[in-house]
Amino acid sequence: MSDYKYQSGFGSHFSSEDNRCPGALPKGQNSPQVCPYGLYAEQLSGSAFTAPRTENTRTWLYRIRPSVVHEPFKRYDVSKNLTHNWDEQYPNPNQMRWKPFDMPKETEKYDFTQGLHTICGAGNPRDRHGLAIHVYTCNVSMIDSAFYNSDGDFLIVPQCGVLDITTEFGKMKVKPNEICVIQQGMRFNVKIEGPSRGYILEVYNNHFKLPDLGPIGANGLANPRDFETPTAWFEDKNVEDYKIISKFQGMLFVGKQDHSPFDVVAWHGNYVPFKYDLQKFMVINTVSFDHCDPSIFTVLTCPSHRPGTAIADFVIFPPRWSVQEHTFRPPYYHRNCMSEFMGLILGKYEAKEDGFMPGGASLHSIMTPHGPDVNCFEGASNAILKPERVADGTQAFMFESSLSMAVTKWGEETCQKLDASYYKCWQNLKKHFSMNK
Ligand code: FE2
Repeated sequence: MSDYKYQSGFGSHFSSEDNRCPGALPKGQNSPQVCPYGLYAEQLSGSAFTAPRTENTRTWLYRIRPSVVHEPFKRYDVSKNLTHNWDEQYPNPNQMRWKPFDMPKETEKYDFTQGLHTICGAGNPRDRHGLAIHVYTCNVSMIDSAFYNSDGDFLIVPQCGVLDITTEFGKMKVKPNEICVIQQGMRFNVKIEGPSRGYILEVYNNHFKLPDLGPIGANGLANPRDFETPTAWFEDKNVEDYKIISKFQGMLFVGKQDHSPFDVVAWHGNYVPFKYDLQKFMVINTVSFDHCDPSIFTVLTCPSHRPGTAIADFVIFPPRWSVQEHTFRPPYYHRNCMSEFMGLILGKYEAKEDGFMPGGASLHSIMTPHGPDVNCFEGASNAILKPERVADGTQAFMFESSLSMAVTKWGEETCQKLDASYYKCWQNLKKHFSMNK
């Protein structure tokens, strides 16, 4: 049995209390004059108070001390590669591909916070509009410290190593091929067992939602019941110098306190962190000919105000059957009005068998053409079509955004992983045109 207990559902109203303190949730009201067990009541808001009911999110936390009990925040420059400065580099419309990002050297010690590196993004956390894409690479656990993001939500995609995450809401263990979302303001600590690496999609505007399904109906893609949120867990622990690390307007700050912030004994609400196992995604696709658009692979979306247009979609390309008749089955060549950042969690990506490696990435910016490489095109054009499995043993994903993203100095230069030869994979695409064909 797992050490971690979860409640299932997406967007549900949950309630949870640590079983060491039965009855810790006040009955009948949110903020009684005196809370059970002498706890403090604190509300964490995930939306404007007056947001419509369908958008309105908040959670009531019943905790040993309110989170305001900390010393003043000071600048904390431990992650020099974390940025929201999109003017570091001259704009670059080229196709970009990165080799796997380096883990910290054995002589270096980086925890999850210190190991954040921003690759690309757009917008501004002060305007609450935009996104940032980071990779984390770390080799030690966060000790006596908790991180929270004032700027937006983190969607975390582990690629190597299990993340043992403690949140104010309870614990989540997230392994590669699972994801988690930790929303704005929620404090969390990350423990690891060895060198770990993964991707983070940060959105400033809004929270992640399940996409509407339209004619698909009530079932399919990521089903709400498969999302898991933690159950309450607390520690009543004095710590001399516990660090609360805040990401605020793109910069890090630290405030010290003398106790663990994971002192929430009970909580209820609909603003909760969650995890999701990507193997539970129900894949939908054509059973006749041609391609559905890649939007059929959307797990979660962070919508903008433009109908059907996302600040960012999280999209996966899971193992599945391919059955289309008289069709070029790999992804088609295309130019997109959206930015496409891709990563690979495991295995080999079908459209490019070489060069796009687990722990690496690619970026195809707005209107930058891309598609299968030569081998993929020639192979798929001549293949005998029959039902076949594709992407077995792999999991590629995409962060797709309607915003035009800039690449950071770390992404383009400092990390030294940008593959300058990427463009060559298309240069030998031959002309097959003939007036006589
Ligand atoms: Fe694409």
